[in-house]
Amino acid sequence: MPKLQKVQLDPCILVIFGATGDLTKRKLYPALYNLYQDGALPERFAIVSVGRREKTTEEAREDVINSIKQFSRTEYIGEEEDLEFLNCFHYFKLDFYDSERYTELKAKLEEIDQGCGTQGNRVFFLAVAPEHFATIALELKTHGMAPNQNSWQRVVIEKPFGRDLQSARDLNKVIRTTFAEEQIYRIDHYLGKEMVQNLMVLRFANTLFEPLWNNKYIDHVQITFAETVGVEGRGPYYEQSGALRDMVQNHMLQLLTLIAMEPPVDLDTESIRDEKVKVLRSLRVDFDDVVRGQYGPGVINGQQVAAYNQEDRVDPNTNVETFVALKAFVENFRWAGVPFYMRTGKRMPTKYSEIVISFKKLPGVLYFKDEKLDPNLLIIRVQPDAGIFFKFNAKKPGTEQSIVPVSMDFSHSSLEGINSPEAYERLLYDVMRGESTLFTRWDEVEYSWRFVDQIAEHWQKENIKVITYPAGSFGPSQADFLIRADGREWHGH
Ligand code: BG6
Repeated sequence: MPKLQKVQLDPCILVIFGATGDLTKRKLYPALYNLYQDGALPERFAIVSVGRREKTTEEAREDVINSIKQFSRTEYIGEEEDLEFLNCFHYFKLDFYDSERYTELKAKLEEIDQGCGTQGNRVFFLAVAPEHFATIALELKTHGMAPNQNSWQRVVIEKPFGRDLQSARDLNKVIRTTFAEEQIYRIDHYLGKEMVQNLMVLRFANTLFEPLWNNKYIDHVQITFAETVGVEGRGPYYEQSGALRDMVQNHMLQLLTLIAMEPPVDLDTESIRDEKVKVLRSLRVDFDDVVRGQYGPGVINGQQVAAYNQEDRVDPNTNVETFVALKAFVENFRWAGVPFYMRTGKRMPTKYSEIVISFKKLPGVLYFKDEKLDPNLLIIRVQPDAGIFFKFNAKKPGTEQSIVPVSMDFSHSSLEGINSPEAYERLLYDVMRGESTLFTRWDEVEYSWRFVDQIAEHWQKENIKVITYPAGSFGPSQADFLIRADGREWHGH
């Protein structure tokens, strides 16, 4: 994917709907501050935080400072130069359903245009619960804030984009009445992570890997996203979602497309997206190869934690999964017969996201007679400590025949310094410069839902119950059997 370059950015106003929400506080404000520190904001720029609560601009700026102090990767300096950043901030109180009030929002934005020279260009960032997406998009159109011929408007939409294919289609239809596809930026924050952006480079810029990247040399692929957190007060959302919709439909399938796609004809956005869609269209799963789990009580980092069904605002009889493991196949010429094992869960013993490419063993003629010998592994660690590790076999020094696995490690931090940009910095920057490669196109969303819907429908039809696993474990033992039945093991166990 294209390298982050400092380009001259068009003047614009970033309008954040959801000023007091968690995402704004934890991610957006700190990301904007870091972009400011890096000189990567437009010269003529303003931010309007839109929220339902009554607040003065001073109070809203205080929120910004607090969020930077708490969550920014760089320290808040608080000196004169930061005032320039804070001066970009405005607050606007709006009940999303108060249609009249949008007229005043429009006037406010135009007033800022006059003062800041932002020329009518807008990024509307919908950092709100999904049920408000459609209303806001329609009100923007009704009040003539988008589209507008003499300037550009873009809309950024957070996940979840629908709850299934039908609701995603309905939502898309409404948003498309206001915005054209190329104005819509559907966020998948995993695409903003450095190591995920590195996947294409790793594959297509290295003679060592690309010729081997197929079913002749790769035995199987594993993708693990493990989290230690529970649902963290998001019970009502999670009860509607579950791990399949929350993680597999978006983050996991996006990574899978980047691992499995054919080389695009070009590095432009649409060429890359075209190849990703083909992968999603080729995906197959057997329902018997899907494990559905839910955490019970247990211990994480020495601390006793409650079961999912004891969490705040979660139904005690809930059948929502907090863990999914599955085996899928990409049925095309490159990947036929290569299993892709995926698993994701909350309340696992450690937090990490990694991809493991396990290469085929050599014929058991000389060394591979010994079943214990490890195959070559390429491990792409997305987080924490992003890096790439290549495991191969070497002779143990001082012995005659003993073979030991050794590892070549590339730690991402050794290249960039440990303070590399956060995903939202890259994503916000890309929206402002109109670069949409790291966002998902409608057909990617559509095919991801098709894949996920068939599993969800099967669960519902067959009344598949979740299997309880203790918090602090790697999910139900059925997830281990899933891979063991094929004579393989999850990496790192
Ligand atoms: C979000 C999910 O999209 O991703 C959360 O809604 C999950 O449930 C989060 O915790 C994980 O993101 P990260 O960047 O912490 O791996």
